[in-house]
Amino acid sequence: MNVWLVGSRGMLGQAVEEQLQRREIEYFASNSEINITDIDSVQDFLAGCELDWIINCAAYTAVDKCEDEQEYAYRVNALGPHNLSSIAAQKGASLVQISTDYVFDGTKQGEYFEDDIPNPLSVYGRTKLQGEKFISNNMKEFIIIRTAWLYGHSGQNFVYTMLKLMNQRQEIQVVNDQYGNPTYAPDLAEAIINMISCYQPVYGIFHFSGSGECTWYDFAREIYRQGRDFGLISNECAIQAVSSTQFLQKAPRPQNSRLSKNKIADSHLVTIPQWDKSLKRFMLQERK
Ligand SMILES: NC(=O)c1ccc[n+]([C@@H]2O[C@H](COP(=O)([O-])OP(=O)(O)OC[C@H]3O[C@@H](n4cnc5c(N)ncnc54)[C@H](OP(=O)(O)O)[C@@H]3O)[C@@H](O)[C@H]2O)c1
Repeated sequence: MNVWLVGSRGMLGQAVEEQLQRREIEYFASNSEINITDIDSVQDFLAGCELDWIINCAAYTAVDKCEDEQEYAYRVNALGPHNLSSIAAQKGASLVQISTDYVFDGTKQGEYFEDDIPNPLSVYGRTKLQGEKFISNNMKEFIIIRTAWLYGHSGQNFVYTMLKLMNQRQEIQVVNDQYGNPTYAPDLAEAIINMISCYQPVYGIFHFSGSGECTWYDFAREIYRQGRDFGLISNECAIQAVSSTQFLQKAPRPQNSRLSKNKIADSHLVTIPQWDKSLKRFMLQERK
């Protein structure tokens, strides 16, 4: 099996690369030096190359900045997947695309299923949804995985931000009216590699996030509790619950990001760890 990992320097890309190496899967990797918005340079890069899978972890993920940079967000999040899926189809390869809970408006009561009607609230969500649509128009052998509240061992993510603030401040405020499932990047990376390594892959749109649900406030409290236990937080910090109306951000966020994992669980190819257990593995790794 030969894999092209796109976006290997990103938070998820690094976790996927680690899995590819651990499983001794043949792969090559790139980042923005092979610009996925430029189909000619992608064609040149892949000239003469045999390919079984493309895993696309590249995206423009700065959700608030996307509101001001709509054209750029569209190019990376929609046109990029369009180009990759056209090329995958030409080469007879399959494609894994990572998408987001932000394709939904968050007004549903309960978990979102794969066939619930998307209604993105933000430019980021709209451009990611357009990317999904291009892929499903261009090819059949694709796996789109929507995930949410992703954190890992690199980049700017909620857990790193909390650990930093909790070590610096006596009090922080965290939103307590948005619900979701924290997702540890190495868990998602393992799921991706399991899905592409099986003899008969199952294609389509899937949801994957940590098991169990919480608000950002609950998540922050657990980070604080475990951070203190693991010696990653030495400061005493009070965590105050606030409503999202007190914490305005440029791009609106869905109130409800809970994703149903029934469909991906039915494939029997992945494990879906409880979010607080995954957080513990994150802490252990950070402590090393
Ligand atoms: N982060 C979250 O909370 C979250 C939640 C739900 C879904 N997702 C989705 O999960 C996926 C991974 O997210 P992440 O947080 O790991 O991303 P990330 O850390 O922001 O990494 C983005 C990657 O994309 C590459 N890239 C950006 N523009 C490119 C271009 N034009 N051509 C080629 N590569 C380009 C970057 O390369 P350089 O390093 O060279 O710039 C980097 O490797 C994305 O699809 C994202 O939409 C993320």
